[in-house]
Amino acid sequence: MIEISPSVLGADLMRLGEEIGMVESLGIRWLHLDHMDGHFVPNISFGPDFVAAMRRQTGLLLDVHLMLSNPLRYIDAYARAGADLITVHVEAEDDAAAMLREIAAHGVKAGISIKPGTPPEAVRPLLPLCDLVLVMTVEPGFGGQSMREDCLQKLPALREMIRESGRDILLEVDGGIKQENAGLAIAAGADVLVMGTGLFRAKEPRAVVDAVMKEAAACGR
Ligand code: DX5
Ligand code: ZN
Repeated sequence: MIEISPSVLGADLMRLGEEIGMVESLGIRWLHLDHMDGHFVPNISFGPDFVAAMRRQTGLLLDVHLMLSNPLRYIDAYARAGADLITVHVEAEDDAAAMLREIAAHGVKAGISIKPGTPPEAVRPLLPLCDLVLVMTVEPGFGGQSMREDCLQKLPALREMIRESGRDILLEVDGGIKQENAGLAIAAGADVLVMGTGLFRAKEPRAVVDAVMKEAAACGR
């Protein structure tokens, strides 16, 4: 089953309630919330209060992506705000295993993310602590960039590592995923596709979802 995780960064923030209603009406089950600290990445976005506001509004799975240099001190706040899944970067300053343990200790699913320049091997020792691996297909920091197809080459190796781990770990891709290239990500082994501008700025979001599901069916997923 392929999931679409719409990135709120691509939504019309003045009409956020309607945008979330639109996501729900399309049968989508996830919502991707990007948090940036102006240090780990050169942009600033939302914080835990934003997650709490989303939690009051929707039952969608809140997929929280932390692009922070020191996520460890904020995990408690994000968990209390109602995150269902918290993903941290292996490149962050805090110890990756400690971050993943802290997320799990709050009863929240834990994800680990790698930037385009980080090899898949970096997550291998962390897989026993993970529920999801997030492969960035752009340099994190901004929505609306073009997908780097070369990053998809990491997916088969990660699928194999996940198989060897014997754990039920989802593979998510994030950055520049659109109707036109979703098939490439699915064929490479992605389970979850983050879509910001590719969904929220599409003329017909329903047609995007239909096209993604058609690609998934073509890949037997
Ligand atoms: C980038 C974020 C992405 C981004 C996706 O740093 O992690 O989630 O918002 O947006 P699009 O799909 O527009 O590239
Ligand atoms: Zn993201």
